[in-house]
Amino acid sequence: MDSFLLRGGTPLEGEIPISGSKNATLPLLAAVLLAPGFYRFTNVPQLKDVRTMSNLLRILGAKVDEAEHELHIDTSHATHVEAPYELVKTMRASFYVLGPLLARHGEARVSLPGGCAWGPRPVDLHMKGMEALGAKLDLDQGYVVARADYLKGAEFEFPISSVGASCNVIMAAVLARGTSVLKNIALEPEVTQLSIFLNRMGAKISGIGTRTLTIQGVPDLKPADAVMIPDRIETGSYICAVGMTSGKLRLTHADPSHMQIVIETARAAGLNVQYGSDSITVERRNGALKPFAITTDPYPGFPTDLQAPFMALAGLAGGESRITDTIYTDRFTHVAELARLGANIRMEGNVAVIAGVKEFVGAPVMSTDLRASVSLVLAGLAARGETEVKRIYHLDRGYEKLEVKLSRVGADIRRVEGEA
Ligand code: UD1
Repeated sequence: MDSFLLRGGTPLEGEIPISGSKNATLPLLAAVLLAPGFYRFTNVPQLKDVRTMSNLLRILGAKVDEAEHELHIDTSHATHVEAPYELVKTMRASFYVLGPLLARHGEARVSLPGGCAWGPRPVDLHMKGMEALGAKLDLDQGYVVARADYLKGAEFEFPISSVGASCNVIMAAVLARGTSVLKNIALEPEVTQLSIFLNRMGAKISGIGTRTLTIQGVPDLKPADAVMIPDRIETGSYICAVGMTSGKLRLTHADPSHMQIVIETARAAGLNVQYGSDSITVERRNGALKPFAITTDPYPGFPTDLQAPFMALAGLAGGESRITDTIYTDRFTHVAELARLGANIRMEGNVAVIAGVKEFVGAPVMSTDLRASVSLVLAGLAARGETEVKRIYHLDRGYEKLEVKLSRVGADIRRVEGEA
């Protein structure tokens, strides 16, 4: 397994291009199953999760060609309806194929994803939404087996805001007979991109960007092309990087409109953040970091995916910061590893109370999940001496060429290839 070796303490200076969004790409890759034909996606991040989804499409009968930041997909012969456990267990977003397969073929057999590193992460809302549209769902040897002669438009309110369940149920409803009214839809930009894309395929979704979508079902859809939106979590992680090291970075190909609460938080921490239409400039000169408070919430609230990176930042702020995760109340596997680098963090239920320390000191640490891993890299950028971040395969799922992007702007970081 590969690891990263870092020597902390060098300021970051220069430009980092932000990649396309992983979480926007994954649902669009499921949506291609809704209509046979040829799709061209651009600004696609080169990531393990995207490759996993491409492999799933291949298993379902699609042809997928990967080019530099592009995917060319032909679904003319994508007629299989089973998503196997071997793939779904490695990436929960594979479950997105349930809605499209069911809507198009009247049946789907999709493995349940199982738990993840920090908790159970259920998919009950995805399933309840399908049932509301008239599907019959059974569990067979760990697989969800869904059937419907045809899906019927219905009114369904999500009891909590869920990105994945919103995407899945929207994709099912676009081909249902009649009108669906879906309430409490997640507002994350990735969900919005999916709805816009589906309308380009011929769907009739109104209310995009609000909590209620009205979807008039259509009998069929046609392929469309798409350009992936910038990855807001990658952007936020590099904003933190400047806070950890000092220096000045210009993040290009970004979308500041998706980053408002993150920018406010970075400013509260003492960073100078300026932005234009598609770039963000972050600067930290000699001043000390200030403590701050974060409570994660569904968009436009503070993203749970950025609480771990911001915890690394809080670890060096002069005072006490508090980070509360309301989305995943157990998502704190990074706390013990950050402590190995010298962070002083106390847990009170789902609240991390961080007493800022003067410096981190390098040590070997181990990644336990994607966002926890990046918080360790960020902490290593600031730490005195050498930090080894082991098991970075988690990072490779969601950060494109992290070590290349960071070393180009001055960080001392390199990948050490390990045995598989
Ligand atoms: C997506 C993101 C993930 C991010 C998360 C929250 C993708 C591929 N992943 O995950 O990076 O951390 O949003 O912003 O886009 N829930 C249920 N039942 C369900 C579904 C969800 O109870 O059927 C709960 C979850 O346990 C969680 C909350 O709803 O507490 C929100 O989760 P959700 O938005 O669904 O997360 P994902 O779509 O899995």
